[in-house]
Amino acid sequence: MVDTGSRESIERVLIDAETIAARVRELGARITAEYAELAEPLILIGILRGAIIFHADLIRAIERTLTIDFIAVSSYGASTKSSGVVRIFKDLNESIEGAHVIIVEDIIDSGLTLTYLLDLLARRNPASLRVCTFLLKERPRDHALPPIDYVGFTIPDEFVIGYGLDYAGRYRNLPYLGVLSLGDLGGDPA
Ligand code: IMP
Ligand code: MG
Repeated sequence: MVDTGSRESIERVLIDAETIAARVRELGARITAEYAELAEPLILIGILRGAIIFHADLIRAIERTLTIDFIAVSSYGASTKSSGVVRIFKDLNESIEGAHVIIVEDIIDSGLTLTYLLDLLARRNPASLRVCTFLLKERPRDHALPPIDYVGFTIPDEFVIGYGLDYAGRYRNLPYLGVLSLGDLGGDPA
């Protein structure tokens, strides 16, 4: 257990930094190969804030001309449970019309955020629209997940932090993926 100075603690390392780096290189190589012959622009859209680390590493693993953009959404507030409501805090800066778009997500949990984003972006007429998520949680879901083209790692249904993922805004700077233990007090930090 790592002492975090808070009532919650990092229970264990789930995926270390070297394993993450190797997987990101593989995803980058696949995307490079699959988009190499396409003439239209390629835009990698990072979902703020959780995807920033994955996005930054992934784009450097892709050997092809591309541009980046960001959209900020939230479905959680400060809790570890999805509220069921997706809000846009910041929209894209550029048009995606006629471009190949890859949505870059940190984690797909309920799938609610992704379903909302796919619907929103599909209506803007991209040449193609795909999803690359760092993590996919293995868990029962009320609704079927939309197709997910690239998955870094499939993980068990635990609350994870690090490599961009947060708990109440913290731990994004950890270079590895850890499992958070909420301790005796547990629950919501708000
Ligand atoms: P969904 O809409 O339930 O799929 O939730 C997606 C968003 O919830 C992600 O982009 C994360 O920001 C957040 N999230 C879901 N599970 C976790 C977790 O285990 N740790 C940190 N954030 C998470
Ligand atoms: Mg988050």
